[in-house]
Amino acid sequence: MTSGVANLGPDVNRPTPDQPSANQQWGGRFAAGPAAIMQEINASIDFDRALWRQDIRGSLAHAAMLAKVGIISGEDEAAIRAGLAAIAAEIEAGTFPFAAALEDIHMNIEARLTERIGEAGKRLHTARSRNDQVATDFRLWVRDAIDGLETQMADLMRALATRAAKHAADPMPGFTHLQTAQPVTFGHHLLAYVEMLARDRGRLADARRRLNECPLGAAALAGTSFPIDRAMVAAALDFDRPMANSLDAVSDRDFALEFLAAAAIAAMHLSRLAEEIIIWCSAPYRFVTLSDAFTTGSSIMPQKRNPDAAELVRAKTGRITGALVGLLTVMKGLPLAYAKDMQEDKEPVFDAARALSLALAAMAGMVRDLRPETARLREAAGAGFATATDLADWLVRALHLPFREAHHITGRLVARAEAKGVDLADLTLAEMQAVEPRITAEVFSVLSVEASLASRVSFGGTAPDNVARAAQAWLERLA
Ligand code: ARG
Repeated sequence: MTSGVANLGPDVNRPTPDQPSANQQWGGRFAAGPAAIMQEINASIDFDRALWRQDIRGSLAHAAMLAKVGIISGEDEAAIRAGLAAIAAEIEAGTFPFAAALEDIHMNIEARLTERIGEAGKRLHTARSRNDQVATDFRLWVRDAIDGLETQMADLMRALATRAAKHAADPMPGFTHLQTAQPVTFGHHLLAYVEMLARDRGRLADARRRLNECPLGAAALAGTSFPIDRAMVAAALDFDRPMANSLDAVSDRDFALEFLAAAAIAAMHLSRLAEEIIIWCSAPYRFVTLSDAFTTGSSIMPQKRNPDAAELVRAKTGRITGALVGLLTVMKGLPLAYAKDMQEDKEPVFDAARALSLALAAMAGMVRDLRPETARLREAAGAGFATATDLADWLVRALHLPFREAHHITGRLVARAEAKGVDLADLTLAEMQAVEPRITAEVFSVLSVEASLASRVSFGGTAPDNVARAAQAWLERLA
């Protein structure tokens, strides 16, 4: 124990042999205490090592620019390039000597570079600060994460649209308030999530567009006196342009917040689908079956097949939302420009990105795995007077009744059927005419689930032809 911090794990108890020696005057209990806890609270290397690729990429672009404008020599640049390549290989191989005393990934790599190439390594940090460096690395990281998540979202959309095409005409009950409302098709239901995911992708793409400006060259906060070429660095890192204000460049994390907000909304969507899958899998519903691949057994109840993956997707939403709220809270009220508070930006973003990636992958797996119980869905689609609206609509169309009146008459017919314990279609014509004498036998043509579905031809409606067309259109767009 080096610091008086409770034993929470290996990171906290990491020995700190590189600390200055204990204070001789007041050694004893306090010994190296303050220095050790300072290192523990200050060091970010345990998590920001995840930025190593971005850090090396940024340094390569910076060094190339320094050489081009004549701030460092071509030989120095070549040495830096070779040194960084060797460091990348060390990190890949797991042999890089990460040191907490060097605080973060930036100083770890820079110190190692100097160790390897000497003098030239010390010139790399000319005209740059860790403040613009970390902002650049982090933007690059978030940009990469966005690209990966967008691809995963497209994959999930493809899985859903493929399923939707197959079940474009298979009925299921549509719900409001989780009460049977009107029949829809299973394909239509799945395509609702495709639309949501398309907007989720759009939000990520939007965030990417705005984050794609380069902070490097803002230096600590005020810019630099060296004749740097910020446009060159921005282009080398595939940014659209350098950021226009040096204070803004080092001090804002809105790009990370936008990412988290988009991630939180996407996770919220996934949690709804997860919840539906959980409901659909339950014994009273039996709408879908998940295979062994996406369920677990119970250690006590042999009959159980638990939808754990769906439950965990539902739960991941909590931590992703938490990441957004956490970082918003860190950033709130910070004066310009950089403050160390901002070092707390990374863990929530790394965690949220990983959680969302896992959730998307698990959901795509479940969507491909699940088997809709079409006969059961068909039966449930017709239960609960699901075609009552179709009856009311027929009264309007055929008898020219005002909708309110049609609604009232239908309500009375539902009450009759309910009292008799039958469906609307099982009432006799005489029973119907007792409520509304002008009703004819034609009414029975609208009371079936299939007729109800086929009639919903309005744009965006659940008619099977609509659904098949929409699914096809998505599959083409996603191809
Ligand atoms: N590890 C730091 C962070 O992630 C890097 C920037 C440090 N800058 C400074 N002026 N102390 O925020």
